[in-house]
Amino acid sequence: MAGARAAILDAVKSALSIEEIEVLPPGPGEVQVKYVASGVCHSDLHAITGDMLHPLPVILGHEGGGIVEAVGSGVTTCQVGDHVLTSYIPSCGTCSYCTIGRPNLCALRDRPRHLMLDGTSRFRRRDGSFVNHFLQVSSFATRAVLLQEGVIPIRKDAPLDVVCLVSCGVTAGMGAVLNRAKVKPGSTVVVFGCGGVGLNVIQAAELAGAGRVIAVDRLPYKLGLAEEFGATHLIDASKEDPVKRVHEITGGVGADYAFEAIGAPRVIETMLECLHRGGEAYIIGVSPHGARISIDPSLLVQERVLSGSSFGGSRQRVDLPMIVDLFMQGKVKLRELVSRRLGLDDVNRAFELLNRGEVARSVLVYT
Ligand code: CU
Repeated sequence: MAGARAAILDAVKSALSIEEIEVLPPGPGEVQVKYVASGVCHSDLHAITGDMLHPLPVILGHEGGGIVEAVGSGVTTCQVGDHVLTSYIPSCGTCSYCTIGRPNLCALRDRPRHLMLDGTSRFRRRDGSFVNHFLQVSSFATRAVLLQEGVIPIRKDAPLDVVCLVSCGVTAGMGAVLNRAKVKPGSTVVVFGCGGVGLNVIQAAELAGAGRVIAVDRLPYKLGLAEEFGATHLIDASKEDPVKRVHEITGGVGADYAFEAIGAPRVIETMLECLHRGGEAYIIGVSPHGARISIDPSLLVQERVLSGSSFGGSRQRVDLPMIVDLFMQGKVKLRELVSRRLGLDDVNRAFELLNRGEVARSVLVYT
């Protein structure tokens, strides 16, 4: 049995507490990972605020990078010493979704995600009580046990304290553009929300050869980042009407594609109004539990498409290592996404910064 330091959420809207815990050894098909770093994502924040309902106590974190240090029986996807990213959506490789090439929708998502597949936890507190996993990743800990289906080996020369961001935000943003929308060269793309996900929509749109990339946010700092990541037009939604501006920029036509990385119902509705007939809008952001949208059906009758993107429609075992390769080749910006580097003890500070919109991403680095 191994020890670990972990950030534990005991109650919604409370600070995480840093504790020494025990990590039980990996069972059949499970992998023990020593985490090197983890990004801090809005979905973690949603669990803290209660916008996402989750069994407590829990060790959050789902954007991890680390090194495999033990494997249970029957593990075939990785071996001890492998550098790995986490996939908060596991892929079994054999269900109907995985078989038709949509492993991001894998049937394992229907199983409880706060426990291992045998229905138990591998995290034990000093008082003997158990702590829940988060999406079977729990990267706000120096060590965790994961399903082998959620462990993705990558090249060893990639810096884990940077490429850990590929485990959620980068892939969510880039994949929405490349896998879901399949943005065409020369097209006009609008992006709502220019944080750790939206910036990756922008850089993927540029990679795909988009002619115009219009970035929308309310914070000047985020719009500055958007420009750095390749946006050709910036709209400050606190001062300008995005629908009106998008139509001005496109000569009255409207955009080909719109993406939103916020999860706000009003923004989703606004997205559709920015499109020309036949245009496509994709929801990436996670809406608060119970949220609803209200749209004019005639917008859809005119063949506008409203859909979403789950982990960027990615084929995790192919796309995560591929994005790491693109970064190592200098074709994808990742270092520029890391606004702050903090220790595990600073996790609550990282959430304050995220809440105030002062970072693209904070990365917790465990030494
Ligand atoms: Cu995330």
